[in-house]
Amino acid sequence: MARPVDLDHNATTRLDPRARAAMVDALDDGVGNPSSLHSAGRRARELVERARDAVAALVGAAPRELLFTSCGSESVAAAILGGARAARAAGRPARVVSSPLEHPAALGALEQLRAEGFEIVLVAPDTDGALPVERVAAALAPGAALASFAVVNHELGNRYPVGEFARVARAVGAAFHTDAVQAAGRIAVDTRALGVDLLSLSAHKLHGPKGIGALVVRAGVAFAPLIPGHQERGLRGGTENLAGAVGFGVAASIVGTEGLAAGERVAALTLRLEAGLCAAGARLHGAREGRAPGTVNVGFDGVPGDLLVAALDLEGILASTGAACASGTTRPSSVLLALGASRAQAECALRLSLGRDSVEDDIDRALEAIPRLVARIRAAC
Ligand SMILES: Cc1ncc(COP(=O)(O)O)c(C=O)c1O
Repeated sequence: MARPVDLDHNATTRLDPRARAAMVDALDDGVGNPSSLHSAGRRARELVERARDAVAALVGAAPRELLFTSCGSESVAAAILGGARAARAAGRPARVVSSPLEHPAALGALEQLRAEGFEIVLVAPDTDGALPVERVAAALAPGAALASFAVVNHELGNRYPVGEFARVARAVGAAFHTDAVQAAGRIAVDTRALGVDLLSLSAHKLHGPKGIGALVVRAGVAFAPLIPGHQERGLRGGTENLAGAVGFGVAASIVGTEGLAAGERVAALTLRLEAGLCAAGARLHGAREGRAPGTVNVGFDGVPGDLLVAALDLEGILASTGAACASGTTRPSSVLLALGASRAQAECALRLSLGRDSVEDDIDRALEAIPRLVARIRAAC
C-alpha cells in the first residue's frame, strides 16, 4: 500500500511525536489540578504556565494575555461575543464589522450577536476574495464595538492585511479580533506588530493536539467571559486541559526552533501543484498571487467536489471540498458563494492544503491522479 498523501493540512495536522510524548508524560505523571495549592497542583500549574509561555511567544503576546480554550472555535466565538458584548456595555455602538469569508465559528457568533440586537455589517469581497482596506474603513466609519477578520482564509489561503484593518478599527475606537488559526505556525504572526486586541489560535493546525485552542486578550481590552469561573484570570472558567496545553506548548516551541511550516519549500510545492492543476483545466479560486503558501482551491466544471474527494481517498490522497460537512452532507461553500461563484461552481470545489510534512512525491501523485479521476467522473456523470 502506497504511503498516504495528506493534502488536507488546513483541516488538521499530524500530532508531532514530541508533543504526544510530553502529553503522555503529563497524563501519567499523576499531576493535580492546576488550581490546587498542594504540591501536585503546583506541579500541574508549572506545566500549564510553561505551555502558556511557549504559545504566547509564538504570537508575540505576553503570557498573562493568553487564555487556553477548548478549541479554535471556542476562542473565535469567545472573542467575538465577549469582545462585542463588553464594548457595548462600555458604551460603544452595537455594531460589528466582519466579512462573509470567516470561519463558521465566527459567522455563528455574529448571528448570535444579531439576535441580541447588534447590527452586523459583512464587508463584501471581490471575486478573488480580496477585501480592500478602503471598503473595511467605510464599513467601520459609523463606529463599531468590534471588527473581526482572519489573517488567512481557511478555504482559499488568501492573506488579509489585518494590521491595516486593526489600525482603521482603532481610529474609530472599535476593538479588533483576528482569527489566526490558519496562520499561526505557518506564517509569521505577531500580536503586537499587528496591533490587534484579540487573537485566536488552535493547536491542531500546527501539529499540536485536537481539542485545545488559545485566545489572546491584550491588557486593557474589555472582555466579557463566556464561561464564568476563577481560572484563566477569571476570563475563562473550567479546569485547564493540562495534557492539551502541554502538547500545544511543545508544538508551539517546535515552530520556534524549527521554523514556520509555510516556508519557501512549501511555497514552491504549492506553486507546482497550482500550475499543474490549472494546466489540467482547473479554475483557481481565490487570489492569484500573495496567498499564504500551502492552499490551492480549484474547481473542475461538472465534477462535484465530494465525488472527487471520495475518489482521491480511495487512492490514498486526502483532500477536501473546503466547505462544512454536517451529517455526511456537504453544502456548497459559503465562501465561494460570497465570491460570486454559482452554486454549481461552488459544488465543484476541491481544496488541497500542504504543510510541513509535504514532499515532491505528494504533488506528483496528486497531479497524476486528479486529471485521471476528473476524466473518469466526467465520463460517468
Ligand atoms: C480559520 C479557522 N478558524 C477557526 C477554526 C476552528 O478551530 P477548531 O477546529 O480548533 O475548533 C478553524 C478550523 O478549521 C479555522 O480554519
